Amino acid sequence: MITDDPRAAATALLEGALVVLPTETVYGLAGNADDPVALGRIYEVKGRPSAHPVIVHVADTAAAMDAPPERSWVRDVPGYARRLAESCWPGPLTLVLPRSPRASDRVTGGQDTVALRVPEHPLARAVLAAMDDVDAERAPHGVAAPSANLFGRVSPTTMRHALGDIGDRLAPSDLAIDGGPCSVGVESTIVDCTGPQPRVLRPGGIGAVRIEEVTGLRVLDAADSGIRVPGALPSHYAPDASIVVAADGDALVAYVDAAVVGGTPIERIGVIGPDDVATPEGAVRLLAAPDAVEFARSLFGALRRADDEGLLLVLAVVPPEDGQGASEAIADRLRRAAAPR
Ligand code: TXA
Ligand code: MG
Repeated sequence: MITDDPRAAATALLEGALVVLPTETVYGLAGNADDPVALGRIYEVKGRPSAHPVIVHVADTAAAMDAPPERSWVRDVPGYARRLAESCWPGPLTLVLPRSPRASDRVTGGQDTVALRVPEHPLARAVLAAMDDVDAERAPHGVAAPSANLFGRVSPTTMRHALGDIGDRLAPSDLAIDGGPCSVGVESTIVDCTGPQPRVLRPGGIGAVRIEEVTGLRVLDAADSGIRVPGALPSHYAPDASIVVAADGDALVAYVDAAVVGGTPIERIGVIGPDDVATPEGAVRLLAAPDAVEFARSLFGALRRADDEGLLLVLAVVPPEDGQGASEAIADRLRRAAAPR
């Protein structure tokens, strides 16, 4: 059932229901992070392997980092993680921190860390605040929310995309909130904060440049971290159509010509790229963005449209890497979508 009432959603969550919840990054499938039955249902509805950890969403930095030990999700928060939280929350940043006993194996995937995020979307914030209000005794509450897609599909950036994937797997008591199209459009940046330096496990809305500015530390990348990020499998963000990343507009034209010669009809080929990249005649333009932020916002919708329209091949030109979150996330997601399956 669809609701626009954050308090109704908060009550439903506290009673064990799931809620399709808008965030500024992508839509999440939310369940009370203290409720093992709700957590089990999240995996079931998504069709997701149960060893995959989920992000716990909380109302604010105090809820994440200053709760009394028995109500806290984390422990031993390093100074640079606190600086990141204070500078970037609420927002598209997830911090991986040492877990406390409150974070169950269902949440952590059996690892000794837990991922925390304070979302910025006003409706997500309203739901989290209402949970603390309705049940003050167990505040601060946490909501576990993976992206609200079926396992292996691209994340949903509208409620319609989410319900198209999982709507028929929800129970009558579950709810969905329509918060409009997501403003960031790609999932949060995940930063491992368990070492002496921040390490980006998944690029997202907050870029490496910003993380280095805020922490004064050099950012490491995911390679050889030893941390499992199961949701970041090489070919995780894949639509049905094949994806090829082209270096620039000329390379894209060459790929299109080769595909047509190889027998792919031009009208089954889609094009994604900055708006100064031309569309080869007859191809389907899925995305033409003036800048990286707009590109990121429209990317997952474009990939879904490719499948809806039965395209066989999508050619993409990525915007230039500039150390900002949007361009890093676009390059990451398109590289994964293009990876061998
Ligand atoms: O923007 C987002 O992060 C969205 C919205 C709904 O908040 N959520 C999201 O969740 O993308 P999900 O579950 O689709 O992706 C979370 C990623 C997964 O790749 C998971 O493996 C990783 O975070 N993750 C969760 N907890 C972790 C942990 N303790 N250590 C390492 N990776 C973790
Ligand atoms: Mg996901």
